[in-house]
Amino acid sequence: MNFETLIDSRRVILCVGSGGVGKTTTAAALGLLAAQRGRRALCLTIDPARRLAQSLGLEEFRADAQQVSAERFRQAGIEAPGSLTVMMLNTKRTFDEIVERYASSPEVRDRIMHNQMYHYVSTALAGTQEYMAMEKLYAVKNDPNFDLIILDTPPTSNALDFLDAPDRLIDALDSSATRWLIRAFESTGRLSFDLLARSAAMALRGVGKFTGTGFLEQVAEFLTELNDLFGGFTQRARQVQSALRAADVAYVLVTSPSPTTIREVLFFSERLTQLGMSSDAFVINRIHHPPPNAPSQQAIRQAVEQSGLALDEDVVTRLQAIMKDEATQAAMDAHHLLVLHEALHLVDPAPLRAMVPAFPYDVHDLESLHDVAKALARVTT
Ligand SMILES: Nc1ncnc2c1ncn2[C@@H]1O[C@H](COP(=O)(O)OP(=O)(O)OP(=O)(O)O)[C@@H](O)[C@H]1O
Ligand SMILES: [Mg+2]
Repeated sequence: MNFETLIDSRRVILCVGSGGVGKTTTAAALGLLAAQRGRRALCLTIDPARRLAQSLGLEEFRADAQQVSAERFRQAGIEAPGSLTVMMLNTKRTFDEIVERYASSPEVRDRIMHNQMYHYVSTALAGTQEYMAMEKLYAVKNDPNFDLIILDTPPTSNALDFLDAPDRLIDALDSSATRWLIRAFESTGRLSFDLLARSAAMALRGVGKFTGTGFLEQVAEFLTELNDLFGGFTQRARQVQSALRAADVAYVLVTSPSPTTIREVLFFSERLTQLGMSSDAFVINRIHHPPPNAPSQQAIRQAVEQSGLALDEDVVTRLQAIMKDEATQAAMDAHHLLVLHEALHLVDPAPLRAMVPAFPYDVHDLESLHDVAKALARVTT
């Protein structure tokens, strides 16, 4: 088993992990690898670094989805018989699409979209971003224009959030407080402020940002309208949830060599197992490699001389310190990774494990993505 077989055999790959570990980078690199293997890959990405977006052509065209041109691949010296399309996830727009799809009439749709609360619910409500990522995945999953869909996940502090997102959204929409509020509104036609005042604290926890006259009435009206979408929406969330558990979905767990992210990734992997899914691959990103041999002062001096730089003892001492530091970091990484390797040792079938080096540059163009892709392609179990 290797990343190539994973890319060739699955329909969907989800890249998950703690904040900042390299999910977006891994998702884009897997997309590149797929394109190199002749597959038509769609990479759904969230907030890529500006320069990465630029280098993939997303910024220039200001489009939601952009296919990396053959010219760009050629310039980067990459042969890609397939294709790589990168799509930026837009939480608000995905939510809009749902409202469009499930609102019973154009009037209801407009009322929902113009409600003051809508903006908050569609962008800032806890879990919305995670859910919308799943929703978008579900929407494009059967698109015949692509062979493989790679999903980058949002920068949540907790990698588990996205997996529970459909559940939590159903709960939120279906909670008894919300239902009570809707019933109360429906039965009176207009909420008595008294009634609301007594229950508002409980029912409206979390939306306390809104103030001003008519606020509570607005909330009630909004929830009633949203109720209009409930049937279709809840059902959809359940479909999204089961799609996440399908056999053609692979989970690639990204981590750094730090003990905290290793702990999180193992926790997440356990959770996947509990849910009957498997962690197909681990990407351990930004590994420090020890310098081949810690060079002597003499060797450093020679190298400095050969490079034509002025031989300055201070430079030699500093270079030696940097190399020592690298070696220490590499030793620490190896030490921290023992925990991961030990835990994975027991897993059957053994998941793929890729070690991606910490490059001395940011990964924000096709060339450096290619370096990551090469590190992934080297791996086999
Ligand atoms: N192997 C690497 N070597 C050097 N730089 C890297 C490497 N992997 C990722 N980076 C850089 O680290 C930064 C964070 O990576 P990335 O955006 O992929 O993380 P992320 O997990 O998607 O973060 P977030 O949780 O915020 O979405 C980026 O600037 C990227 O270029
Ligand atoms: Mg990211």
